[in-house]
Amino acid sequence: MDWAELHRACLDCARCGLCRTRRNVVFGTGARDAEVLFVGEGPGEQEDLKGEPFVGPAGHLLDDMLELIDLDRNKVYIANMVKCRPPRNRDPLREEQDACSVWLRQQIALLRPKLIVCLGRVAAMRFIREDFRISREHGQWTIRDGVLTMALYHPAALLRDPRLRPDTFVDLKALQQAVRDYCTHTL
Ligand code: URA
Repeated sequence: MDWAELHRACLDCARCGLCRTRRNVVFGTGARDAEVLFVGEGPGEQEDLKGEPFVGPAGHLLDDMLELIDLDRNKVYIANMVKCRPPRNRDPLREEQDACSVWLRQQIALLRPKLIVCLGRVAAMRFIREDFRISREHGQWTIRDGVLTMALYHPAALLRDPRLRPDTFVDLKALQQAVRDYCTHTL
């Protein structure tokens, strides 16, 4: 499938129960030749309304985080573990993540990113390790399926607890260095 076919098929998805309550499928946004992929948890209310990832309060903070390290939102790719909003913003269930993973997997196959950045614990548990501990392992690079991968605290966690921000600043600097080292058309 190419991007257009994948996008079209995803908009019709009924692979799990979240399709019954969603207003929009949040496919993902950014450059289709992006070298850096950010993966969040799942759409919130604003994202569900607009059909775009990270456009609510957490998204505004993500924009600030990207700006801090000179990353342009249009030059990276932003997606979520699940493409439809879980009711009342609960964590996506294991079976919802499993059902949805076909889409993200195909997006990754098309993108072939150099770096994957998990936003928060839910994405890190999926991409890095089932027992990933965000408080201990944020900012550490690891290779998963041949791709350098790390996790940052989720921007919503940084909004709830600003004491986590200094650590995230250090992690963002490590990300910036990795972009310098491994990416050719991102900065
Ligand atoms: N939180 C997420 O994990 N993803 C979004 O798109 C918005 C908020």
